[in-house]
Amino acid sequence: MPNPPSQSASATHVTRINSAGTSDTYLTFGGCNYLGLAHHPQVIAAAQAALTTFGLSTSASRQTTGNAQPHSDLESALANFTGFDDALLVPDGYTANLAALQGLAAIGINHAVIDARAHASLKDAANLAQMTIHTYDHLDPSHAHQILDTLDAPAVVLTDAVFTTDGDLAPLQELLESIGKHILLIDDCHGFTVLGNQGRGTANHFNLSHPNLMMTTTLVKGLGSAGGVVLGSPNLVAASRDHSTAYICTTPASPALAAAASTALNLLTSKPSIHAQLLDNINNTGAMLRYHGIQTHNHPTPIFAFTLGDETDMLRIEHALLEQHIILPLMQYPNGPAPTYFRLSINASHTKAHIDQLDQALTNALKAQPA
Ligand SMILES: Cc1ncc(COP(=O)(O)O)c(C=O)c1O
Repeated sequence: MPNPPSQSASATHVTRINSAGTSDTYLTFGGCNYLGLAHHPQVIAAAQAALTTFGLSTSASRQTTGNAQPHSDLESALANFTGFDDALLVPDGYTANLAALQGLAAIGINHAVIDARAHASLKDAANLAQMTIHTYDHLDPSHAHQILDTLDAPAVVLTDAVFTTDGDLAPLQELLESIGKHILLIDDCHGFTVLGNQGRGTANHFNLSHPNLMMTTTLVKGLGSAGGVVLGSPNLVAASRDHSTAYICTTPASPALAAAASTALNLLTSKPSIHAQLLDNINNTGAMLRYHGIQTHNHPTPIFAFTLGDETDMLRIEHALLEQHIILPLMQYPNGPAPTYFRLSINASHTKAHIDQLDQALTNALKAQPA
């Protein structure tokens, strides 16, 4: 069941129509607008200016007439920021995984070795690229290497860099060690803009660079825009550009969204306080949850997943928080840490007062639990 539609939204609040037909405002801890940039005035102004120059859509594949200057500019900026040699912009993060794997399949890589809890888009991409899929135990690089050792042909190892559902970090160093003829493709949708030097991503966080390392990410989360990107060595990115129907046969995100993403990226580097605030909020939120006896990871990632009792208890807590005008999403999302769990996300626009408000509301909600 989808949530009731929001009537308006900022980086921290949404309004919804209540049963009396009037609107209520909620403080929200959902979504992935990690830097709050989807609502930054400069990002919105960049989109508005590009709308005037380019219209709403190029209405054509980039391979034909749909390539606009903001798309090319964004590709260069993304490669430069992340430290990869080349970048290919595609419509979204889901398509980025498909474009990457179609490209690899076209150059003879037909085995995918995938983390058991990888994002569904990686598994779908491997299936659609007609790869043979081998699954390794979650976060277990030695199991991944055991599987690689049994393969004669080159393979691609697939993992989220930061896991969508619970914010855990993949063991990228160990996965990349002795990668040999194989490729490591990391989906960094949740590490890009968050981890590493000023948000350069999880590969940067671990100080990794390798010709066989590829990265995909979305522009909807940390950059608050839309679009997806495949990053890597020139030959690997060229394979996607030249061979993937996910790139060749799709229309890119609007030039307005590409211009907005470039402006967001600029803000990330030119205003270090935005990223610093996110890291501060992550620390404060982790400490607040631990004060309530809630176990959290120790990574500097803005996603906190946890259960509180059984499903009935959690529904009651979710409701008690809603009554205090707080949205803490209760999830049933594929490959999560439990069938039903809370997924709290914090962003750079949240203030200490917002975290305190959640703290107080949680105290009330947990107190209201039947013995
Ligand atoms: C890990 C991961 N990969 C891919 C995607 C897909 O990105 P997009 O929403 O841009 O298609 C998501 C987003 O939901 C994600 O969390």
